[in-house]
Amino acid sequence: MTAPATAPACTLVLFGAGGDLVKRLLMPSIYDLAVSGVLHSGMRIIGVDRADLSDETWREHIGKALHDMAADPAAEFNAGTIRDDIWQDIANRLSFLKGDITQSSTFDALAQRIEGNAIFYCAVAGRFFAPIAEGLGRVGLLAERDGAFRRIVIEKPFGDDLASARELDARLLSLAKENQIYRIDHFLGKETVQAIIALRFANRLFEPLWSAEHLDHVQITAAEVLGVEGRGSFYERAGALRDMVPNHLFQILAMVAMEAPADLGEQAVRDAKGRVLGAVQPVKPEDMVRGQYAAGTVSGTARIGYREEPGVDPQSRIETYAALKLEIDTPRWAGVPFYLRTGKRLTAHRTEIVLQFKPAADGLFGRDVAPNRLILHIDGDKGLRSEFQIKAPGPGLAIAPVAQSFRHDDFFAHVPNIGYESLLYACMMGDASLFQRADAIEAPWRAVEPVLEAWKTGEPELYPAGSAGPKGAEALLARDGRAWAPLAPEPDRRAGRRMAEGAAD
Ligand code: BG6
Repeated sequence: MTAPATAPACTLVLFGAGGDLVKRLLMPSIYDLAVSGVLHSGMRIIGVDRADLSDETWREHIGKALHDMAADPAAEFNAGTIRDDIWQDIANRLSFLKGDITQSSTFDALAQRIEGNAIFYCAVAGRFFAPIAEGLGRVGLLAERDGAFRRIVIEKPFGDDLASARELDARLLSLAKENQIYRIDHFLGKETVQAIIALRFANRLFEPLWSAEHLDHVQITAAEVLGVEGRGSFYERAGALRDMVPNHLFQILAMVAMEAPADLGEQAVRDAKGRVLGAVQPVKPEDMVRGQYAAGTVSGTARIGYREEPGVDPQSRIETYAALKLEIDTPRWAGVPFYLRTGKRLTAHRTEIVLQFKPAADGLFGRDVAPNRLILHIDGDKGLRSEFQIKAPGPGLAIAPVAQSFRHDDFFAHVPNIGYESLLYACMMGDASLFQRADAIEAPWRAVEPVLEAWKTGEPELYPAGSAGPKGAEALLARDGRAWAPLAPEPDRRAGRRMAEGAAD
């Protein structure tokens, strides 16, 4: 494997420099990129924020956060110890611009500091994306001159619905060209999400089975144990649906459901995703379930309900759980429902895709044979698990369910990766294949429009913190004679052996 090329020199401007995203995810990713040696010595980072910080205090703030997180096993960035040489290298690149992004003087001051290549990263709330682009455009910072690139990274949520997403796009495209706009979805930075394309199209073993002919249905789950973690006021505007579904879960869906792209280039992959996302049908009223967590116990710890969280209306009707059944109108997926669910304060953290197969073809072993399942673990113990039947040892031909797993960490050295590394690197390299084109943003909004409309009224179903979610979600699948994969950990191999022994009895 050849080492990745050094990215070109550039100035990375982080709007929202005092915020959580910069501290918790972007700076750790920059640290990881520095460790891997791909940052050009001429790369600079300017933090922009209203916070009362100076170059020195911002460096201290970031340095402390990196050291604290590195030492915290629960943090996403748990690098162990921070290498002093790497931290010094990063610290030397950092400078701070105190400024309000709603004021034009901020952009005038920024323009004085930037020459050559630049990336403007909007790590701020969605309502500031267009004002930032307009501020940059006004002072000429989006103009690409003398071979220099100027790119703008837009975080999620990209709009609140189809109309606002289109309006945001129109505003951005009046200020910059499509190839300057990098619409980010950090799920596309996850190795395991990127790996789906290789799993499907680099193997004979899976792809021929990956269709309505063999699959009964697909489940996509993003279950979290965490609550809203101090983001109550953000969540009150977003809710679980807007926060997770038309972006993260639909990106996974696109990887699972797209046809083979013509090649692995940016345009072909985005075309293939765009086509399948465009074929997702608007959700039917009976195919949507919303829930909200009430007080409960998670892993032995008592947790308050969503309505008691700081920044949340005590009568809030905002959902912290959403489940949908989707249909994809393509020959490959005719009659194969995709069930999506996401929620906070559930019993386990689990991001996974389950492909459940139809029963064995000729029924030789009867009708009660457990269906084959292929499970792609996106987070946690990353890898793949396949579940199938085998003859139980002993006389006769009884069968027993068994499973085999591929664990990513058994084959590959652990490389610290919190997801933003590959996205930041790709943006510096001008590779937009891991970013979203406007069609991949609009199609999901179109599909969930009926849900947004329906959930303007009515109430979410309460579920206790620490449970598997609202009962309505179970009913959504039970109605079709199906069930969600359990959120609790799967039985280990010994448990599998006990099952086999039981079956042989
Ligand atoms: C973010 C959402 O985009 O994704 C959060 O705003 C959510 O609410 C997070 O917790 C989940 O991402 P990950 O990578 O931790 O699964």
